[in-house]
Amino acid sequence: MTAVETTQTRSNGISYQELLDVDSRPAPDVLRWVSPMPPGPDFVPVERYTSAEFHRLEVEKLWKRVWQMACREEDVPEVGDHLTYDIAGISVLIVRTAPDTIQAFRNICLHRGRLLKEKSGRDDELRCAFHGFAWNLDGSLKHVPCKWDFPQVDETWRLPDVRTGFWGGFVFINLDLDCAPLEEHLGDLTAHFERWPLERRYKQAHVAKILDCNWKVAQEAFMEAYHVVATHPQLLPGIGDANSQYDVFGNFCRAITPNATPSPHLQWSPTEQEMLDAMFDRNLDDPVMVEVPSGDTARRVAGDLRRRAMVDVLGPEAADRLTDAELCDSFYYTVFPNMHPWGAYNRIVYRFRPNGNRHDQCIMECMFLSPYDESQPKPPAAPIHWLGMDDDWTDAWELGLLARVFNQDVFNLPKVQDGLESGAIDTVTFANYQETKPRHFHQLLEEWLAR
Ligand code: FES
Ligand SMILES: [Fe+2]
Repeated sequence: MTAVETTQTRSNGISYQELLDVDSRPAPDVLRWVSPMPPGPDFVPVERYTSAEFHRLEVEKLWKRVWQMACREEDVPEVGDHLTYDIAGISVLIVRTAPDTIQAFRNICLHRGRLLKEKSGRDDELRCAFHGFAWNLDGSLKHVPCKWDFPQVDETWRLPDVRTGFWGGFVFINLDLDCAPLEEHLGDLTAHFERWPLERRYKQAHVAKILDCNWKVAQEAFMEAYHVVATHPQLLPGIGDANSQYDVFGNFCRAITPNATPSPHLQWSPTEQEMLDAMFDRNLDDPVMVEVPSGDTARRVAGDLRRRAMVDVLGPEAADRLTDAELCDSFYYTVFPNMHPWGAYNRIVYRFRPNGNRHDQCIMECMFLSPYDESQPKPPAAPIHWLGMDDDWTDAWELGLLARVFNQDVFNLPKVQDGLESGAIDTVTFANYQETKPRHFHQLLEEWLAR
């Protein structure tokens, strides 16, 4: 591992903090926090992505010990609702055991080891389909068929516990019963989301797909804007890709990419209208959707438009407080190891994890967390929409414009895995600043694997 000094060099163009200065409203504190990562790992061994042995190390040292997001609270709204969360061949059962209690257990029957549940559902007991051992929702033993034949089984038998923690309307689990509390792991994350409370959202969409690459190859493709110039060139007139800001804060980090501002890669200066069109993904033969009045800017027009749209859900006062930045820009956080909640009202949350014990396949998920009219009951959570391995992301119509961008992103990923598996290089290389987030991830991963 070689450390390289982080330099002060940067792209041409306006910095994110300078862009905030000309916003129509004062920037909230959370957007003024600047916390660059000091020099750190910039070469990472290829075996982290290609080795089954390294995967087993991650299972033992990471997945069996780290807090990980399992589901949303609204995924199990009623007593008896349960679902499974699977990580690297380990299955966890999450159960709403009382109106205000959610518990988690290892998803296994203590008789002869069958998985208790294969899918989500609602039951008043947890009964095994093999011989009929049944547990109460709280994990205590309820019933043993032919109990006379099991003198060794008594009422102390209960499903093995899994630790739970709650943040932002998410249920987190930890397989290590001696782990530090979730709050300690998350650090100051709550302060970052104070203006955008995710617990006051509902899961409007949830799409999942298996990808042919290591889980870290996939998630690292969604951590930076450095790839936009080559992977999403259509966005350049309306995205300040290389003017993004990258910050690290303990176990989480973030990227902020401004929109409705031009890329410093462009050799020409787009008009404000061209910036807005690129941001709204307008095709050349489409009519202009929104006109930028002369003397106005794309950021203000986009901000006003989206602010008006937020009045219905947030009310006029809260909507009016939202800055142009909050309504235009992309704030993509990463909570170690694999959760990616977006700030403000972008609605996106990603999760990446290995597919079973395959080091060369992963599950990518995208959820949309949307605000709703809180004078009404919370709408039901969308069930997972699994895309087949050969399905196109645009088959998930609920992702809207994002689906086409995903197609561009995931097109690269099996080819990255193939290149890495070829053995032609020993390390991958990360940029000092624009690849801050993968650098930060690998620094934390190294710490976890060394424990
Ligand atoms: S394995 Fe579950 S009841 Fe026998
Ligand atoms: Fe992308």
